[in-house]
Amino acid sequence: MFHSKSAKLAVINQDQAELSDCQALAKELAIPLYLSTDKNNNEDFFLSYQDGCLKLLDKHSLIKNALMVNIEPRSGEQHSYPAPRKNNLAKALGRKTKTVIDATTGWGQDALFIFRMGYQIQCFERSPIMAVLLKDAFLRLSHLKWVQELALNLPQLTHGNAIELLTQLKIAPDCIYLDPMFPPKRKKSALAKKPMQVLHKLLGQDDDKEQLFITAMTATAKRVVVKSPDYAEPLGGKPNESFKGKLLRYDVYFKH
Ligand SMILES: C[S@@+](CC[C@H](N)C(=O)[O-])C[C@H]1O[C@@H](n2cnc3c(N)ncnc32)[C@H](O)[C@@H]1O
Repeated sequence: MFHSKSAKLAVINQDQAELSDCQALAKELAIPLYLSTDKNNNEDFFLSYQDGCLKLLDKHSLIKNALMVNIEPRSGEQHSYPAPRKNNLAKALGRKTKTVIDATTGWGQDALFIFRMGYQIQCFERSPIMAVLLKDAFLRLSHLKWVQELALNLPQLTHGNAIELLTQLKIAPDCIYLDPMFPPKRKKSALAKKPMQVLHKLLGQDDDKEQLFITAMTATAKRVVVKSPDYAEPLGGKPNESFKGKLLRYDVYFKH
């Protein structure tokens, strides 16, 4: 069942999508299904299959600016596998790290980058809507030629609250990666990109991030990495290491 703190959602069967896929999705999330757009619908967001992807649309831009989980390499990223590990994220994950859990997968951009750098990655996401968008993306990923040719282990997605899932692990990962939602900075120039703005509108703040951090420190084998905006206080107090970029940093906490 879909619960949102502030936004309402429906499935919309716009063009060529299979009706049965839309019906199954609406049933899974327990939300209405519409067969066409109608100005009287009072939902804020719609899920829709378009061009072979599941997309999230907001009511102000029903066709334009649809959002989906992008499985392509980031701009400037080398198109080879594994992608080089010279960036701040890789430094924070640690040279000896092989296995990573992304406990706050969201739009999957960090998780997919971690995957392309050659780590084994497991993904947790508690929002049912983000979970269905990620599921669709990981299915598309499994169809990519290079992924099939290299017979790669795909990111494994579990829908649920990481605070619970992390206490049930059979094998501790080398690293647990956290990127919870921080309150946005007021200044207009610092507005987050559209996908993150939508996530804020859909899900609100992650008010239990301190609890998530404590649970992650217990569950990890070696380290926890927290991605933070530059203006935010470190989530777990003074980190052991910190890798700073222009607008964000990766705080690293070692398990003792
Ligand atoms: C800022 S977004 C993460 C963005 C992500 N790193 C990316 O690259 O797209 C935070 C996400 O973490 C999820 N989240 C927060 N706390 C969680 C928890 N305790 N368990 C599972 N998911 C959680 C939220 O639902 C949200 O989708």
